[in-house]
Amino acid sequence: MPGSRGTGTVAVVGGAGAVGSSTAFALMDSGLVGEIVLVDVDEERAEGEAMDLDHGAFFTSPVRVRTGDYEDCWDADVVVVTAGASQEAGESRLELLERNAEIFADLIPKVTAEMDDDAVVLVVTNPVDVLSQVAWAVSDLPADRVIGSGTVLDTARFRHALSREFDIAPGNVHAYVIGEHGDSEVLVWSSANLGGVPLETYCDLRGVDDVADLRARVETEVRNAAYEIIERKGRTNYGVARSVTATVERILGDDDAILTVSTLVDGQHGLDGVYVSLPCVVNRGGVREVLEFDLSEDERQALDESAGVVRESVEKLDL
Ligand code: 2OP
Repeated sequence: MPGSRGTGTVAVVGGAGAVGSSTAFALMDSGLVGEIVLVDVDEERAEGEAMDLDHGAFFTSPVRVRTGDYEDCWDADVVVVTAGASQEAGESRLELLERNAEIFADLIPKVTAEMDDDAVVLVVTNPVDVLSQVAWAVSDLPADRVIGSGTVLDTARFRHALSREFDIAPGNVHAYVIGEHGDSEVLVWSSANLGGVPLETYCDLRGVDDVADLRARVETEVRNAAYEIIERKGRTNYGVARSVTATVERILGDDDAILTVSTLVDGQHGLDGVYVSLPCVVNRGGVREVLEFDLSEDERQALDESAGVVRESVEKLDL
């Protein structure tokens, strides 16, 4: 039943869509949000989603859900952007680039025109790393306050897969996915651990005789997760909505939590001037700092290639 009213205001641009409305639904339970504003070009659908969600507020922490327009983004604490086309079955996230970059070029200036100087923009629309960089480029906001949902969900999928492999609670599995939220993403095996025990050691302790096979299975499961879901239900929405909600909660809670959000890297692992996901300390100001954990040589090269994929996509757009 309801707890105390949250004080945060979150605007969801694209709020009438599956990811946007699922994110709004998940946010209602956070207890940190007092108002959710759905902004969408489909005003009729947004109105219906807001009414439906708002009726559910009787059962959650006190929160108001309503529709609004771009001006409502200017006073929001966090603006979540889910607007744009989503993948069809078999379509890669990068194949959405042209359509969604065009939408962003028009949308983001309206969203950020007179935005409060402490608001955080959280881009979710794919290809999320490129579009996070587009959003930063077309707004006059500092990069630490324009971030992308990045590989937060992929990191969760990685931890989920390992927790199932070893029958260990996901909270005790520590492993990251970095780079592009897409086909070139990098699963960081070298620092993966269960309860602080390095994965390789854990496999020895548990008598895993084919670690290479385990790694191949987990890599396939994590990399292909979205394709497998989209093939079956036409989209993904709940997992990404939960990952976005967790990120919003860390921002509103000013938690200094480590999340693999997409951010403008500045020298980490020899990269700069491109948005990719790395473990970042996230708080009310957005990204407080980007962490540079050790990587194996293979992982560092794969990250370099992944950043190259994002950079090439950004260069195709005349920002
Ligand atoms: C996901 O990974 C499609 O990027 C979305 O679920």
